Amino acid sequence: MRLLLSLLLPSIFISLATAVVGSPLEQRASCTLTASGSDDASAFLSAAADPSCPTITIPSSTTLNISSPLNMTGLKNKHIDLQGTIRFNPNLPYWTGHAFYFSFQDQVAFWLLGGQNIVLDGGGTLDGAGQAWYDAFAKNSSLARPIILTVYQANNVTVQNIKMINSPEWTNFVNEGTFVTYKNITISAVSTSKNQAKNTDGWDTFRSDNVIIADSNVNNGDDCVSFKPNSTNILVSNLSCNGSHGISVGSLGQYAGEYDIVENVLATNIRMSNAQNGARIKAWAGKGVGSGIVKNITFTGFVETNVDNPVIIDQCYETDDDECAEYPSNTYIQDIWFDSISGTSSGKEKAVVASLSCSPDGRCSNVNVNDITLTPPSKYGSPTFSCQNLAVSGNDADLFGTCSMTG
Ligand SMILES: *[C@@H]1O[C@H](CO)[C@@H](O)[C@H](O)[C@H]1NC(C)=O
Ligand SMILES: *[C@@H]1O[C@H](CO)[C@@H](O)[C@H](O)[C@H]1NC(C)=O
Ligand SMILES: *[C@@H]1O[C@H](CO)[C@@H](O)[C@H](O)[C@H]1NC(C)=O
Ligand SMILES: *[C@@H]1O[C@H](CO)[C@@H](O)[C@H](O)[C@H]1NC(C)=O
Ligand SMILES: *[C@@H]1O[C@H](CO)[C@@H](O)[C@H](O)[C@H]1NC(C)=O
Ligand SMILES: *[C@@H]1O[C@H](CO)[C@@H](O)[C@H](O)[C@H]1NC(C)=O
Ligand SMILES: *[C@@H]1O[C@H](CO)[C@@H](O)[C@H](O)[C@H]1NC(C)=O
Ligand SMILES: *[C@@H]1O[C@H](CO)[C@@H](O)[C@H](O)[C@H]1NC(C)=O
Ligand SMILES: *[C@@H]1O[C@H](CO)[C@@H](O)[C@H](O)[C@H]1NC(C)=O
Repeated sequence: MRLLLSLLLPSIFISLATAVVGSPLEQRASCTLTASGSDDASAFLSAAADPSCPTITIPSSTTLNISSPLNMTGLKNKHIDLQGTIRFNPNLPYWTGHAFYFSFQDQVAFWLLGGQNIVLDGGGTLDGAGQAWYDAFAKNSSLARPIILTVYQANNVTVQNIKMINSPEWTNFVNEGTFVTYKNITISAVSTSKNQAKNTDGWDTFRSDNVIIADSNVNNGDDCVSFKPNSTNILVSNLSCNGSHGISVGSLGQYAGEYDIVENVLATNIRMSNAQNGARIKAWAGKGVGSGIVKNITFTGFVETNVDNPVIIDQCYETDDDECAEYPSNTYIQDIWFDSISGTSSGKEKAVVASLSCSPDGRCSNVNVNDITLTPPSKYGSPTFSCQNLAVSGNDADLFGTCSMTG
């Protein structure tokens, strides 16, 4: 009877009918997900695995409760129309041991989204319910906090027009992805207690090629975007980042025996406010580190406000000068452009507004600066541009003068 009615009547009636607990219509309507009152992960996974659901809809009135991991790899031609909210239940003891594990930096994840031709959009929200995680992490820094969304082993994925809030740790991980595009994403990770929302990167790319991150707003407590090992052909454009650690290449060359590549990156039209860094490249040095290459990176059109290090290369990352002289970084840095970078530093580094600090022995080459108009807070007087162990090129090279050489 109900089935007949549903065939005859408009969809509004179907949703009313499916609201009746236990209705058999729930199965037939499984491409549209509504909250069950308990864990909604299996319903979401079933819809994803079902080829007769090319579009999965999460209506705007729905908050899905995800209380177990979402392995959504190997999808094909899938559209997730997220109008409502997907919330990851902050059952900390459960996720410890159940989240997906990546050996890279011991990352863990709630949701793996992979396969081919995937769209995630709809105006809704991914909610990491991070507060409980921030508070627990403040007491126990070995707690592994899951990433909200990991695009994993994927080709041709678009994520757009959604919000991502309060991720326990990184917000987006692009891991082994090609042709992955993010547009019009609003990211916010803010703690309401005294415990900070730490390591809540906006995006991290890893072993990925042809990634676009555009037209988005990020308010968080770590990198706005970070290019991790083997990130190539990446465009980052039109972002507003607040409170972050900057647009960062690296850190690279951390692990002995590994070779890290970051190549062909353009970061353009970036507004960076109240941040630790603006445009940054960091690579490890010291005994027993790895190796790699950072090549053809352009940072252009940055407008910065109250940023500790508006422009920074640190090729002796976490390594003091003596050790860096003895064991220079094996991650070479070449063909770098900092163009059209304006605004103010925070004064944390006093008058220094740009710092290009390389390992000894010519490990940085062809580093260019053009149209740099950065100033420190007025009490520090005129800006200082510092550099070490490289020859700076470009129209504004004279700002840096002769760089000190060590080692
Ligand atoms: C989510 O599902 C879990 C597991 O069934 C349940 O314990 C929890 O109360 C649910 N939370 C909400 C907000 O529905
Ligand atoms: C995810 O599921 C696929 C099969 O559908 C499986 O091959 C893969 O090992 C799973 N991944 C993880 C990390 O559990
Ligand atoms: C990428 O995916 C979109 C949406 O699923 C599809 O329309 C498009 O044809 C795909 N592009 C390629 C090159 O496969
Ligand atoms: C901290 O968290 C780790 C990982 O979950 C766990 O193994 C360890 O027992 C916890 N330590 C304390 C003191 O709770
Ligand atoms: C951007 O995404 C928001 C949802 O977060 C949506 O309301 C808005 O319409 C989107 N803008 C465009 C231009 O699509
Ligand atoms: C930049 O992104 C914002 C959304 O954050 C959008 O409203 C605006 O139109 C974009 N600007 C350009 C030039 O695309
Ligand atoms: C921007 O970040 C600063 C520092 O973290 C914070 O105090 C401020 O509230 C943020 N602004 C907005 C609009 O969220
Ligand atoms: C990066 O790519 C190089 C060259 O293909 C490879 O040797 C290296 O193992 C890769 N590194 C990572 C972290 O995947
Ligand atoms: C440098 O990277 C840009 C993308 O940022 C790319 O368009 C350009 O082709 C690359 N140059 C070379 C020589 O590969």
